[in-house]
Amino acid sequence: MKGEEVRVLSGIQPSGSLHLGNYFAMMKRMIEYQEEHTLFCFIVNYHALTSVFDAERLRLGTFEAICDFLALGIDPERSYFYVQSDIPEVTELTWLLSNVTPLGLLERGHSFKDKKARGIAANHGLLAYPVLMAADILLYEADLVPVGRDQKQHVEMTRDIAMRFNQTYGETFVIPEPEIPKDVAVIPGIDGQKMSKSYNNTIEIFAPREELRKKVMSIVTDPTPVDQAKNPDQCSLFALYSLFLDQEGRKELRERYLRPGLKYSDVKKELVEKIWTFFEPFRVKREQLMRDRDTVMDIMAAGAKKTRAVAVEVLQRARTNVGLNY
Ligand code: ADP
Ligand code: TRP
Repeated sequence: MKGEEVRVLSGIQPSGSLHLGNYFAMMKRMIEYQEEHTLFCFIVNYHALTSVFDAERLRLGTFEAICDFLALGIDPERSYFYVQSDIPEVTELTWLLSNVTPLGLLERGHSFKDKKARGIAANHGLLAYPVLMAADILLYEADLVPVGRDQKQHVEMTRDIAMRFNQTYGETFVIPEPEIPKDVAVIPGIDGQKMSKSYNNTIEIFAPREELRKKVMSIVTDPTPVDQAKNPDQCSLFALYSLFLDQEGRKELRERYLRPGLKYSDVKKELVEKIWTFFEPFRVKREQLMRDRDTVMDIMAAGAKKTRAVAVEVLQRARTNVGLNY
């Protein structure tokens, strides 16, 4: 069993370019966590198989996601940074967990129900997705799992599965907690719905300048005329801009909204600039990494080795407790 350290763990899909929702709701916090806690951070390529059926796209997406994380500040020396499929123990643990996971629990999954409702043909992978996610979390004895609100149910399912396992076979797993900060719980997209790749309403953090400009200029705002006061609390533009402001800056922007005369197009132009300069140093680093594949592969091989040592120990305990080690 691990000692007193607090383990924080989260994974991200390699299935598209990173957007502001991913960055502010998840990555930024993860990168901050590594200062104080033991961080496990990984690219969930096994999970991506439920939605990506193009091998080349998955390969490229995985490599890009690795470069994104490294460029944004994941420190592979200090943290556990790896690709999910480099630790095959996770698939074995998934099987052990499957046998204490009620079918009803999976059928009630929001994400599963949502995909089915949208007409996506459901296969076993989609149904079993939360069990693989539970294995991701339990295999490393994570205490805290920082995720956006949409993933909260998956972490609750993990807790449920872990408790059932512990009850059936004796103390084996640490019970994790989801960690969802209030102020960035849901980041809106350009149409005002939750920003998500699946809604096609994202602003990519590493988009080329012209694409970034187009996306920001198309953020939906209300039709309040220029000479009237605007409501910052109902405005996606305000919410997105606020991500780049400190408390004082937010207060000033709020005052500008409340004074007649504010043009949304001016605020949008400022926001393009804010996003571009904020991500500039990361963009440069990312481009360097993308050109230096050998270095990146070495980093990932070392990450997998270090992580696997943790995984093997926990998996062995689970194997012993269920009676596989005869
Ligand atoms: P997408 O919805 O674009 O497919 P992912 O499911 O890959 O994004 O999300 C990766 C992580 O980022 C998850 O922890 C998710 O909860 C978080 N996240 C993504 N979009 C948002 C958002 N708009 N607001 C808050 N969190 C988000
Ligand atoms: N399901 C998560 C998502 O779509 C990704 C994920 C897989 C994950 N395994 C995880 C997140 C373990 C946190 C912990 O965003």
